[in-house]
Order: sequence, then C-alpha cells, then structure tokens
Amino acid sequence: MTEDLYTLMRILTRRRSCRSFSLDPVDKKTLQILSDAFALAPQAGGDRDLHCRFITDQNVIRNLADQGQEAFAAHCQSITSSFIQEETARYGENFFWFGEAPVLAVVSCRNAPAFLEKSAGQKAPLIWGGELSAAMASFSLLLAAESIGLGACCLTGPLSVWHEMENLLDISGRDTLVLLIALGHFSS
Ligand SMILES: Cc1cc2nc3c(=O)[nH]c(=O)nc-3n(C[C@H](O)[C@H](O)[C@H](O)COP(=O)(O)O)c2cc1C
Repeated sequence: MTEDLYTLMRILTRRRSCRSFSLDPVDKKTLQILSDAFALAPQAGGDRDLHCRFITDQNVIRNLADQGQEAFAAHCQSITSSFIQEETARYGENFFWFGEAPVLAVVSCRNAPAFLEKSAGQKAPLIWGGELSAAMASFSLLLAAESIGLGACCLTGPLSVWHEMENLLDISGRDTLVLLIALGHFSS
C-alpha cells in the first residue's frame, strides 16, 4: 500500500457524521481550505455553477433551523392520511438539529437548462449532473474537514421544505439547493 493510499483509507475509515459540535468557531483560513477542496472536485461539463456558501452567524443558522422545523410541522399537518403524516413526521426527526452548528455550508448548483428538461424529462437533472457534481464536491469537502479534525454532517432532509429553505437562503430561481453541511469542531 502506498503512503497516499494508506492516508486516504485512514481518512475514509475514520470519517463519521458528526451532529454535535463544540462552541469554538471555525476560522476563515479553515473555511478557505474547505472551499478549495470543494472546488477541486470534478464537475459535469466542467462547470455547473456550483456554490458552497458558509454561514457562520449563529443566529442565522438557528433561525433557519427553527423556521425550517416550523414549515416542516405545517407540511406534516397538511398531509391528510394519518399513516403518511406519522411516517413523514418520524422521518423528519433528524432534519432540523443543525441549529447549534457553528457553520452551515449551503451547497447549490445551476438547474438543468430548459431544452434538456423538454427533451429528457425527469432524467434531465441526472444527465445535466449538477446535483451529482455538487455531491462529489461535498464529499471532497467532508474528507478535507475530516483530515483537519473537523466534524461534519450532510443534510438533505431539510429539503422536505425546499421552497421555504430556498427562500430563506436566497437561492436564485436558476439555481437549486442541493444539500446543507453542518460543520464544526468535535465536542469533547
Ligand atoms: C446525501 C446525504 C443526506 C443526508 N441527510 C441527512 C439528514 O437530513 N439528517 C441527518 O441527520 N443526517 C443526514 N445524513 C447523514 C447520514 O445519516 C449518514 O451519513 C449515514 O447514517 C451514515 O453514517 P456516517 O456518515 O457516520 O458513516 C445524510 C447523508 C448524506 C450522504
């Protein structure tokens, strides 16, 4: 095994989703490293206008989680079948815990163009590859976070209320929110 492969396997083996963080802030230099790791991943077509925006204001993160939770509760209430309502509510128990994370990375990409949606229908996003490129870039960020001793967890659950999330996060109509990544130092 080469030294590079050994290091890679060690980081891959050690990585776990982290959902509880210390209160220590993450400095700008560290966020820049994560941003660089995100940007180094391959992208479909070489450019899907991927964005990874870091929110570090604790009030903004908490407010986003609270408002998301509220919208999700309203969404559950609007479901008429009690079985589906209960299952959805249970499924959503792990969606809005990120309010206490010191950093929230907001990952978005450009939507598939209209011509592709017309010609390929439902499969357009897969062919376009924007969301898959965003997922690859996010994994690159996760590995960088792990290698510098930061905890992280991806979240797509909050997209259950994607309309509210995209509004709150000011994602433009030509883009789509792909996932959130809660980040911070491990709590001891
Ligand atoms: C695309 C994606 C979406 C995820 N969404 C959520 C989520 O909404 N809430 C959550 O608590 N964890 C979420 N996770 C974390 C998974 O639950 C976690 O990766 C999985 O249980 C495996 O555990 P590990 O990451 O510790 O290996 C998500 C992970 C991925 C890759």
